[in-house]
Amino acid sequence: MVINCPRGTADIFGDDISYRDFIIESAKKLFKLFNYSEIITPAFEHTEVFNRGIGQSTDIVKKEMYTFPDKKGRSLTLRPEGTAPVVRAIIEHKLYSKVPIKLFYVENMFRYERPQKGRMREFWQLGVEAAGVNSPLIDAEVIWLLALIFEELGFKNLKLLVNSVGCDDCRPPYINVFKKYIEPQVESLCPDCRERYNTNPLRIFDCKVRSCGTIIEDSPKIYSHLCSGCTQHFKAVTSLLKSLNISFAVKEDLVRGFDYYTRTIFEIISEDLESVQNALGGGGRYDRLIEQFGGPPVPSIGFAVGIDRTIVLMKQLNISCMQNEQENNVFVILLEQEFEGYGLEFLSYLRKHGIRCDISFEIKKIAAQIKWAEKNGFTHTAIIGGDEASSGIITVKRLKDFKQSQLNWKKDPQEINDIL
Ligand code: HAM
Repeated sequence: MVINCPRGTADIFGDDISYRDFIIESAKKLFKLFNYSEIITPAFEHTEVFNRGIGQSTDIVKKEMYTFPDKKGRSLTLRPEGTAPVVRAIIEHKLYSKVPIKLFYVENMFRYERPQKGRMREFWQLGVEAAGVNSPLIDAEVIWLLALIFEELGFKNLKLLVNSVGCDDCRPPYINVFKKYIEPQVESLCPDCRERYNTNPLRIFDCKVRSCGTIIEDSPKIYSHLCSGCTQHFKAVTSLLKSLNISFAVKEDLVRGFDYYTRTIFEIISEDLESVQNALGGGGRYDRLIEQFGGPPVPSIGFAVGIDRTIVLMKQLNISCMQNEQENNVFVILLEQEFEGYGLEFLSYLRKHGIRCDISFEIKKIAAQIKWAEKNGFTHTAIIGGDEASSGIITVKRLKDFKQSQLNWKKDPQEINDIL
């Protein structure tokens, strides 16, 4: 029986690797320009990291974590997101002693979700966490970086949504106001939202059930209940975004799926993706999280971008992942087995010159070999038979117009650079 990869996971190869490399490389260039350095955390953590970090009443902790006991009975969890592990690492290695600290990661995440296009059980994120700055300046810089990542990739019609979810001073009184407003209609909420009403009322704003949407449509929003500190902070962030010429919309009912957020939250969405998984990236401030993990008070902010979803949309919108003109490369065609040694010597010469090349591992008809080379993205062929081996002169053929050049490779090793 054939064994396939588990539901919600995928093998990544071919074209998808080119897209993925393009996304990661262009983000890494930006991370460097913005002075971020890389962190790699383990693929699994003590379950407590996520229970405490993300929040017990969130969907992720309640329903979506891959949690298992190890052989000694300790509870471990495959990371469903990158922020809580980075916070754990910041405290474990006392990285907060040298704040501000700017870290980025490119990692796979695991969530037990209902798989569909752009929603996987194992997926890849690239993200940043900037710890130790209270100023709205870092909010603006982090959002700027997120917007630039997509601009660099060639996206044009994305929407950047921002909001503030307040702080420990203004959120609890707002939640009381919100609950009072909803109270007469609690029984009309969907079963999930009835539970959210008691455990995590703000998540009702993220419910996709239409009747819940209608109930909360005119409800009071946290945006109008922010304390003066949070209002000032948010005003400063939006005014800095304006001075950076970043277009954004304030979405007063924007909420996010983690309990750790305070003040600024944001998401970048595409209206070309179906609404359930239209978010390409998102993040926000988490000023209390490091403290809640037992560290000192270190206000922080970050975001993550879904790489798989970004690939889906790039393909859908025909955005190319080719950075430069296609590089030149050579397919070496052997005419007879006895020249294999000579062929390998020629491959070694090409590779030393940084030229991607391959060789025909079986002796077949020339026409078939040339066809294969064309189909597999080679730009040139070089044919090796008795004449070439004895004269040392190899004919290099450019496939797009069949232009031929003679290469006396041992006598004039640099000539290949003029030919390709
Ligand atoms: P998140 O919004 O859960 O945030 O995930 C960020 C991005 O990961 C989403 O916008 C989406 O593109 C992608 N993503 C999420 N779930 C899936 C899935 N099942 N399949 C494919 N892609 C998915 C976070 O994870 C926070 N840790 C971001 C953050 C960093 N906040 C502060 N710092």
